[in-house]
Amino acid sequence: MGSNLDRFKFDTEEARDYSGEKKLKIGIIGTGWIAESHVDSYKRCPDVEIVAAADLVPGKAKAFCEKFGLTETRCYESHTDLLANEELDAVSVCTYNRTHAVCTIDALKKGVHVLCEKPMCVTMDEAVEMRRAEKESGKILSIGFQPRLDENMKMIKKIVSSGELGDIYYIQTGGGRRRGIPTPFGTTFIEDKTAGLGALGDIGCYSLDMVLNAIGYPRPLTVSGYKSAFFGTRPDYYPKHPEYAGKFEVDDFAAAFIRLEGGIILDFRIAWAMNLDTPGDTIIMGTKGSLRIPSTECWNGTVGGPMKIYHEVCGAQVETEIPILDSNTDDLFYKKIRSFLDAVRDGGKAPVPTEQIIYNQAILDGIRRSAEAGHEVTIEVPEV
Ligand SMILES: NC(=O)c1ccc[n+]([C@@H]2O[C@H](COP(=O)([O-])OP(=O)(O)OC[C@H]3O[C@@H](n4cnc5c(N)ncnc54)[C@H](O)[C@@H]3O)[C@@H](O)[C@H]2O)c1
Repeated sequence: MGSNLDRFKFDTEEARDYSGEKKLKIGIIGTGWIAESHVDSYKRCPDVEIVAAADLVPGKAKAFCEKFGLTETRCYESHTDLLANEELDAVSVCTYNRTHAVCTIDALKKGVHVLCEKPMCVTMDEAVEMRRAEKESGKILSIGFQPRLDENMKMIKKIVSSGELGDIYYIQTGGGRRRGIPTPFGTTFIEDKTAGLGALGDIGCYSLDMVLNAIGYPRPLTVSGYKSAFFGTRPDYYPKHPEYAGKFEVDDFAAAFIRLEGGIILDFRIAWAMNLDTPGDTIIMGTKGSLRIPSTECWNGTVGGPMKIYHEVCGAQVETEIPILDSNTDDLFYKKIRSFLDAVRDGGKAPVPTEQIIYNQAILDGIRRSAEAGHEVTIEVPEV
């Protein structure tokens, strides 16, 4: 039984009834691991029909659909065949990083809305072409950054926007795992021809989004970057698959010093593997206060513990603890899908727009270029 105080609570979100609405026809491109979370979430939406799925690996899309009871879903062995044969409202691009751009651009050119997994792509040229295809098609392109839908992540943005920290001038972000190179399903995350970027693209993009979204995505100007691969290239790292070491062609650690518009410094480091528990908490330093966001063991879409604001009250230096808010990772995946579908249905804006994420991609690209050149580089983001 609820307490008397429950009578003063009210629901802020009214559940929308989609049951009578026209069904949106959805296609899934790439039926690997992350596609499962897309399908689970689409299945929770009564206004959706998953009409088609494609994967380059023969039989993979069919086996995937059988696993999810999608008996009516038509299966293809390439995204081009799927797009040529189906009339769709939207697709989820769940392929490895190297094919995000081609699948997204082809779908947009066919007049289909796209939810593309993170990172947006691999190179800056691809990101610009994706933006161009989005603009020319007039369709929605949203990028799959579900952690920013977490209540604790939203709180970071609220704290910064409230002015509580004053003007932001320095940010440290990143994170990592002591041992966490993602190879449980094979080598698509570690080979250049499929992944293109390692820890940098896989989890670095999340850390960047957490802080850049909070401060309003200022334009990146210059970057001095570093990357290495001391763990992924060791045969003893993979006791069951020592041969993976010879296939490891991406970074397992990256670090960078980035200058952002407005004089803000971003100090960044990310690791799939290291001899350390964490490369540091995220800190956002401002002229009135600073925020410490404890790091997580592994990126799971939330923060690692209660956050703290360090500030002054009437001359005293005090700390304010921000309690952890309830969050559920499954819900984040659902919200990612639902917010995309709502934008498609209502003609709204992309929930995670490319006008922001192109800056995230520009930083990843800048870190890679700078690391390879061995010196600082300028970041150019062409207007589309
Ligand atoms: N948002 C998240 O929390 C999250 C979590 C994991 C992975 N991801 C992202 O999702 C993407 C996929 O990750 P994954 O773990 O599912 O990888 P995966 O390698 O398990 O699956 C990718 C699949 O895409 C298929 N594919 C590639 N190009 C294709 C094309 N042109 N047409 C049809 N199929 C194609 C591959 O054959 C493969 O089966 C990556 O970019 C990754 O960064 C996001």
